[in-house]
Amino acid sequence: MTMFLVRTAARTAVRTNSCRSFCVSHTQLSDRKGLVLGVFEKEEEEDEGTLHLTEAAAGFDKSLSGKLSELLKLSGPALKNGKSRVFYGLHKDFPCVALVGLGKNNAGVCRTENWDTSKENIRQAVSAGCRLLQDLEVSHVEVDSCGDAQSAAEGAVLGLFHYDQLKSKKKTKVTTQLHGSADVVGWEKGIVYAEGQNLARLLMEAPANHITPTAFAKTIEEKLAPHADRVTIHKRPQAWIEEQQMGAFLSVSKGSEEPPVFLELHYNGSPDSKQPPLLLVGKGITFDSGGISLKPSASMDAMRADMGGAATVCASIVTAASLKLPVNIVGLAPLCENMPSGKATKPGDVVKAKNGKTIQVDNTDAEGRLILADALCYGHVFNPRAIVNVATLTGAMDVALGSAAAGVFTNSDWLWEQLHRASVVTGDRVWRMPLFQHYTKQVTDSQLADLNNIGKYSRSGGACTAAAFLREFVKAPHWAHLDIAGVMSNKDEVPYLRKGMSGRPTRTLVEFAAGLAHNG
Ligand code: BES
Ligand code: ZN
Ligand code: ZN
Repeated sequence: MTMFLVRTAARTAVRTNSCRSFCVSHTQLSDRKGLVLGVFEKEEEEDEGTLHLTEAAAGFDKSLSGKLSELLKLSGPALKNGKSRVFYGLHKDFPCVALVGLGKNNAGVCRTENWDTSKENIRQAVSAGCRLLQDLEVSHVEVDSCGDAQSAAEGAVLGLFHYDQLKSKKKTKVTTQLHGSADVVGWEKGIVYAEGQNLARLLMEAPANHITPTAFAKTIEEKLAPHADRVTIHKRPQAWIEEQQMGAFLSVSKGSEEPPVFLELHYNGSPDSKQPPLLLVGKGITFDSGGISLKPSASMDAMRADMGGAATVCASIVTAASLKLPVNIVGLAPLCENMPSGKATKPGDVVKAKNGKTIQVDNTDAEGRLILADALCYGHVFNPRAIVNVATLTGAMDVALGSAAAGVFTNSDWLWEQLHRASVVTGDRVWRMPLFQHYTKQVTDSQLADLNNIGKYSRSGGACTAAAFLREFVKAPHWAHLDIAGVMSNKDEVPYLRKGMSGRPTRTLVEFAAGLAHNG
């Protein structure tokens, strides 16, 4: 419904502005409209007072006979990148106008930052402006494209997201609309990308007693319902998982009272129904207590987001379906809890994966690789053109890169290039990590079995030994493992995401899938 309103509104022509004086009582407090407009930084050689308004801002300024630029100069120093300032009562249609700083014009792709600085600046500035207006309880905001409507829409929708489903007092719901630009297609694409990431954020943030494996699968099923013509869903129950001989997955789920679900999604977007699919596999631990190798209680609550891989993978498939991307995708999400109990797997137990390999489980907290092992084995039946698995797999990944980028371990230079290209566009970055035999040796040296679920030198290179373990279950020539533990949550590092679970790297997965669709 919201989507419908936004879309309809986006198609509405922007009203003719007027600078007649107006009466405040005409504008009801509850349905005040706001406007976000951009301003670039001056070039070094230019005078202090030089203003570079965007096209939309300049148009608005002109309709007010220069009143906006006059006030902007009067109100203080030039707006720095990402900073914003609100002006009240300038225009009868917009009681609140937020001016936002966009940094240097034409900053473009930065080769050292590995992202498009202009796009990032727009996301940051627009999100700051929208939030300021949301705090003022403005219920509808028109947004300047700032030269890139998709990035502006992403900034608006990502910036306004706030998880308050379970609170009595809610933040103001804000609807958004493109202002002063004809690029409605770019704007709508940005809305869909950002809503995809917000779906992953919602699933990750929600408490584990709400998002159980069963509830997760049901939510995704509901989100995909409008796309039933192109989507098939299987919610595989425990009996199916047993038939498939997924002993590694079952060794994790058996400690919990919540039944496991193996979620299987098929999105058939390609005109060629026989086209080999892209296979996306996501770790779906709806709560990771560590099992018998129990985690310390401090911050254990964050482990409700240990299904971030499944959330981002499923959300990207929902987004691909909304965008009608001409590509086939299969999504797999092994979903369960990792809990300690009398029935739980014990350190030293040996279990057998679907491909017959035996695994000594020396640490029950290294459970993600166990559930992914079986999902990866199974995924090969679809003869995929590429396999990408996504998982909040190791604390070591967070130590290595923090929240700057997701680690990519891949056996394919082609796949790396595709993922990297996508991440430069979205600003949700990836960084390549090694898959040396060095690490393989450390997981294949097990006292009782073919493999050990932790590396021989347990703390050293933890993200790399985990990746080496997964590799033992992959035969495909184009496979990538994304360790997203470091990017799972946001404090204030990504300015256009509030504090909380990040939903990263959903937009990068969507952009990557769109790239594959484009290249046939
Ligand atoms: N889910 C955790 C990894 C994690 C940590 C994700 C922090 C997000 C934030 C994973 O299951 C785990 O506990 N891994 C262990 C592996 C170790 C026992 C080899 C870890 O990283 O400590
Ligand atoms: Zn764990
Ligand atoms: Zn985990």
